[in-house]
Amino acid sequence: MKQLFGIIAFGFLLFIPLILVSCQSSTQYPVDYEQLSEDQRIVIRFSHVVGEDTPKGMAARKFAQLVKERSEGYIEVQVFSNGTLYKDGEEMNALQRGDIQLIAPATSKLTNLIPEFAIYDLPYAFRNYEEVHAYANGEVGLTLTEKLNEHNLISVGIWDSGFKQLSNSIRPISHYSDLRGLRMRIMPSDVIEQQFVTVGANPKRIDFNTVFNQLQEGNVDGQENTLSNITSKKLHSLQSYLTISNHGYLGYFLLFNLEFWNKLPKDVQTLLTDTLQDVQQWQWQFAEEMNEEKLQDIENCSCIDVNYLSEEDITEWEKAYIPVYDYYRKNYSDKYVNALPKFSN
Ligand code: LMR
Repeated sequence: MKQLFGIIAFGFLLFIPLILVSCQSSTQYPVDYEQLSEDQRIVIRFSHVVGEDTPKGMAARKFAQLVKERSEGYIEVQVFSNGTLYKDGEEMNALQRGDIQLIAPATSKLTNLIPEFAIYDLPYAFRNYEEVHAYANGEVGLTLTEKLNEHNLISVGIWDSGFKQLSNSIRPISHYSDLRGLRMRIMPSDVIEQQFVTVGANPKRIDFNTVFNQLQEGNVDGQENTLSNITSKKLHSLQSYLTISNHGYLGYFLLFNLEFWNKLPKDVQTLLTDTLQDVQQWQWQFAEEMNEEKLQDIENCSCIDVNYLSEEDITEWEKAYIPVYDYYRKNYSDKYVNALPKFSN
């Protein structure tokens, strides 16, 4: 009897590792992920064109880090910054082809595909970040992002870069007529082009990664961008005048390749959307703080003449830009304009 009990106990001990292994294999992700090849893990290639020291660059890294931790390494987000993998004009095609899985382009760069996205480019369309976020997540804003699905893309969030400011090497700008004749670098958007044409400037579409060279070579006199982008690429070091105009929003839609997204297991999708939600909250705060910090740095460096627009100036600029709104209504649709906070509240 004692012998029989010993045999049973020994048999049970033999089974313990098996029980442990089977418990482990029922956990969500393989624990020994380091041993797995890329084919056995989920790899997300995330390409973007800005530096790592920017609101987009920092958020991309944070997202990659959190996903790694939360999936115990089963999902890997590989971040390629500064346009090292795909440049400005290339990343969208690469995403649609499925060569990469995630990008976060500025809204202006979506206008080639869906011109109505230029709603985010309209000057003085939004007074603050809350208005932008509410618009993007509101009924009309969502009908716009849903259009992306027809292009094998899905939007999973919006990140901020900031509000745009104007810099140039010719003269201080306080009245919109000061822009007359200036050659200004712009992102690829018909509405931004109109914004400059309307006040007599000469806009030139130039890829982000070559703006520094183009300014240095004198091919353009100035540019518009957020302070985080301007300082990250040291554009202010080539310019004499900066106007804090806050005249337009610059932000990003986070886009997955739709086919890739649809093939992901449901629990992976949930992990990614939950993490994106957390990162988005953090990112909004970070972008705002970073732009404030960069303004302080620029004020302190005394390296560029800084000029602020008053409320009265802004009212003047807004009037000057009415034709740009007419352009949008005529060429695209009234619907998106009417839903803007300044017309709907
Ligand atoms: C630009 O081209 O100026 C921006 O879109 C760059 C970026 O992604 O913030």
